[in-house]
Amino acid sequence: MTEDVLVVHGGTPLQGQIRVRGAKNLVSKAMVAALLGESPSRLFDVPRIRDVEVVSGLLELHGVKVTAGVEDGELVMDPTNVESASTDEINVHAGSSRIPILLCGPLLHRLGHAFIPDLGGCHIGPRPIDFHIGALREFGAVVDKTPEGMHLSAPNGLHGAKLELPYPSVGATEQVLLTAVRAEGVTELRNAAIEPEIIDLICILQKMGAIIKVHTDRVIEIQGVPRLYGYEHKPIPDRIEAASWAAAALATRGEIEVLGARQQDMMTFLNVYRSIGGELKITDDRVARTGVSGSEGGIKFWHPGGELKAVALETDVHPGFMTDWQQPLVVALTQARGISIMHETVYEQRLGYTEALNQMGATIQVYRDCLGGTPCRFGRRNFMHSAVIAGPSKLHAADLRIPDLRAGFAHLIAALAAEGTSRVYGVNLIKRGYEDFEAKLAALGAHVERL
Ligand code: EPZ
Repeated sequence: MTEDVLVVHGGTPLQGQIRVRGAKNLVSKAMVAALLGESPSRLFDVPRIRDVEVVSGLLELHGVKVTAGVEDGELVMDPTNVESASTDEINVHAGSSRIPILLCGPLLHRLGHAFIPDLGGCHIGPRPIDFHIGALREFGAVVDKTPEGMHLSAPNGLHGAKLELPYPSVGATEQVLLTAVRAEGVTELRNAAIEPEIIDLICILQKMGAIIKVHTDRVIEIQGVPRLYGYEHKPIPDRIEAASWAAAALATRGEIEVLGARQQDMMTFLNVYRSIGGELKITDDRVARTGVSGSEGGIKFWHPGGELKAVALETDVHPGFMTDWQQPLVVALTQARGISIMHETVYEQRLGYTEALNQMGATIQVYRDCLGGTPCRFGRRNFMHSAVIAGPSKLHAADLRIPDLRAGFAHLIAALAAEGTSRVYGVNLIKRGYEDFEAKLAALGAHVERL
């Protein structure tokens, strides 16, 4: 498809201001939460991305009225008339996203049954759903896996449970939250994920009437309530998109102010950015400080000139270095002097994109061993999950095919940093998680055009 190719004339530093809106990985879950309410919910600052369209479609199929609100980015979801959707209708969404799995609890509460299509999402490892299914069964759900998808019912209702996740999975924690809030009795979840997006989801559920306590040591306690109501909420900003633009500033020796980015969600990233030699200025409290509305702040990121420094890093669950920050940052690390190490401990197959960077002149070697940090779940299991990056390397243009969302953005950054003209194929995949990325590139002075 010719329209899915972006021609990138690289070598120009990206300079200027762009804005990030609500986090993709919160907004989609907040939309699912709206299904649990007995009155309409309003979500603000919602980005125009493909994942939002997919979840809107799924909600609409189940009788939720989804409309645009008066404000730009406002979404109104009215779940007054939730109804069953046919398997065929739901299956239209098969393979489009991983969010449908989170509809299990809310649909069981609202309808007593649910059908979940085959999941989609990025191909970054096997991405099993065993934690989800295990938890749902503990709540009392009957789960029947068929080749077409998953049928669920709850003949005796859903009841609170004592659960412990084998790994602090973001999705499984959300599954438990979205199910436990209306299950009868108390649920205790141990080894829960505590990402800022999870805490924001808990804030939303509390606004809806839920009772949720976040204890120390990854323990979350949920007291089930009989009914929940609509919410009004402005989501936390997208810290993955913010970090992606920050990495682009570094890789292209530019300067990008990311309006809307927030320090407290990105502290680990900011420390790393500075260690590499990137500069940053935080103005996320500008409106609160100056009282001037319309003077929104954020975080400015720039390359100060000279050479970047190599680092050893590993990805981890919050408050560690996010797995979704890894790919864009590795592009910047190809420009750092010395040997950098990236140990990916969240997904077992998230370094495949480095092959394309090598074709562009980078020197990256991937290993099965756990390098540069603590041994992880993937050590000795034959997964290529550590990368050694030797730099600095001069990147040159290439024809690239985008493999998944974050790797895709990393490829785009590499093309922008490289000398010459690259063609990036499958670029529409980036729309899943980056709002108006082509307009933003243009605003930053990038020379790109659709083929
Ligand atoms: C969420 O995925 C995000 N997706 C991912 O962002 C993000 O990378 C990830 O959390 C980690 O922060 C959304 O929010 C839509 P997990 P999720 O369950 O919830 C294993 C992006 O580009 N696991 O925390 O699917 C799993 O295989 C995406 O925006 C099981 O073994 O991630 C992985 O190794 C990519 N069994 C680890 O846990 C299960 O049942 C963490 O996965 C569930 C997970």
